[in-house]
Amino acid sequence: MGTTILWLNRRDMDGLIDIYNVLHVVENAFREHGLGRVQMPPKVYLDFKAHNGDLRTMPGYLEDMDIAGVKLVNVHPDNPKIGLPTVMALMILNSTKTGAPLAVMDGTSLTDLRTGAAGGVAVKYLSREDSRVVGMIGLGRQARTQLRAIMAVRDIKKVKIFDKSSESTIAFKVDMEKEMGVEIESEPDAHKVCDCDILVTTTPVKSPVVKAEWIRGGTHINAIGADAAGKEELDPMILKKAKVIVDAILQATHSGEVNVPISTGIFSVNEIYAELGQVVSGIKQGREDESDITVFDSTGLAIQDVVTADLAYKKALEKKVGLELEMF
Ligand SMILES: NC(=O)c1ccc[n+]([C@@H]2O[C@H](COP(=O)([O-])OP(=O)(O)OC[C@H]3O[C@@H](n4cnc5c(N)ncnc54)[C@H](O)[C@@H]3O)[C@@H](O)[C@H]2O)c1
Repeated sequence: MGTTILWLNRRDMDGLIDIYNVLHVVENAFREHGLGRVQMPPKVYLDFKAHNGDLRTMPGYLEDMDIAGVKLVNVHPDNPKIGLPTVMALMILNSTKTGAPLAVMDGTSLTDLRTGAAGGVAVKYLSREDSRVVGMIGLGRQARTQLRAIMAVRDIKKVKIFDKSSESTIAFKVDMEKEMGVEIESEPDAHKVCDCDILVTTTPVKSPVVKAEWIRGGTHINAIGADAAGKEELDPMILKKAKVIVDAILQATHSGEVNVPISTGIFSVNEIYAELGQVVSGIKQGREDESDITVFDSTGLAIQDVVTADLAYKKALEKKVGLELEMF
């Protein structure tokens, strides 16, 4: 018996799925995680020190949903100098029955979407329902899907933004104001942005860009940027006074926002309040008080990728998108 694989390149993936349907499947994936019905070893990193880059392997299996696959993704910050993207992700979806690959797809926009969706799920369960103002530090690829997802779950009236690059700032303001129809105010520094209800950080920094005294009670923070050892966006004193919810403890302690404060002894793993899946599945309560500061520490889970890839695969079959290739 032959096996064909559906090949979905960047163009095929474009517009196949959107943040609204991805939010739904990613919320389900977190619930399954909370209920202990997934298999997901932490990401494995190959560190290409000589080339300032890394390659990550991320396998995941949702047992009840019967969906499995693996993502291979690099981060090479110097790539743009030679005309290549920093991040190139390849996603493989497998049949759980035979193990055969069902589809191979560009995982780059898929990564942006599933990361945005995780942020949206965190905001839905952790932020105040009356949140109206979003603050955003870092205005690259992730910032866009974060805003789309947040606006899908909260009635946002105003967005305050800051990026060290004026090019990114202008592009974000022009594009997102038009797309989302929301008022976007560009601020001269990160401090001003923190006067908000929901703060999102999506920078690749290794020393904090947000100070503890800038964060008022009741704020929810999506800390998205730290996804490798040594990365850190928030003053660790924020974590000390906040309810910290991580996506997965093993990954977060290795590479999330908490990784540096844990390695320096400022913060301990016992101070992590919950995993997001425990909140989504009702095992733990999210926000308990209007004045809580809540932090979602996102590193990006393989199960987010796998459910998003399954969605893309189904849409592609339905719309007859992609190329059938023979492999075995
Ligand atoms: N948690 C996850 O699941 C997940 C998923 C994808 C990417 N990431 C991480 O998120 C971060 C952002 O990824 P991206 O794809 O949006 O990258 P990007 O390069 O598209 O955007 C990053 C933005 O941050 C800005 N920036 C850098 N330093 C800054 C500073 N000190 N102050 C203000 N702005 C600053 C840059 O100018 C740029 O506009 C990276 O660290 C990436 O590894 C996390």
